[in-house]
Amino acid sequence: MYAHIAPSYNALHGAEQERKIRILLSLCSQEFSTILDVGCATAHLATFFSDKKYVGLDPCKELLAYVPKQIQTICASGEHIPFMDASYDAVLSLTALHNYSDPLQGVRELFRVSKKLVFIGVLRKSAYHDSILAEIQLCAKSICRRTDIHDTLLFCHKL
Ligand SMILES: C[S@@+](CC[C@H](N)C(=O)[O-])C[C@H]1O[C@@H](n2cnc3c(N)ncnc32)[C@H](O)[C@@H]1O
Repeated sequence: MYAHIAPSYNALHGAEQERKIRILLSLCSQEFSTILDVGCATAHLATFFSDKKYVGLDPCKELLAYVPKQIQTICASGEHIPFMDASYDAVLSLTALHNYSDPLQGVRELFRVSKKLVFIGVLRKSAYHDSILAEIQLCAKSICRRTDIHDTLLFCHKL
């Protein structure tokens, strides 16, 4: 559903998503070295993690075509992340879960591949918003929550 806006994705959504990631990062005082961005689109958020090993994952090859060549990406679905348990210190998924065919499986996958930290933005107007939040509560040891204009933003420690 994002393929047709791939060339203009950053211009359309970049500023809004960057505002959200700034809020999420302000909630985190822990150090981490590796991060997987699930539903990364054009991986424009990689600029916030230039001192870390950043990997982006998205099922939309048209969006991934706009990722700068030096950034590592993988074309895959968030319901079946092709990494082992606890592969990344931190996992991020910003305004993506509501697009999945199985958002709750997507939540479980974020926590499965994270070693300790999970950053999530959930679209507030999504019909899945409340069930996604309930699933996150089952997977997290602690949650720090902020309400943004369009998203509920959650910084979580894995159980
Ligand atoms: C609103 S965009 C958000 C992109 C990015 N996280 C950002 O903050 O700019 C939603 C993204 O979710 C991706 N997406 C859709 N279905 C997905 C799935 N099953 N697994 C992972 N990502 C998915 C889309 O391709 C798109 O890149």
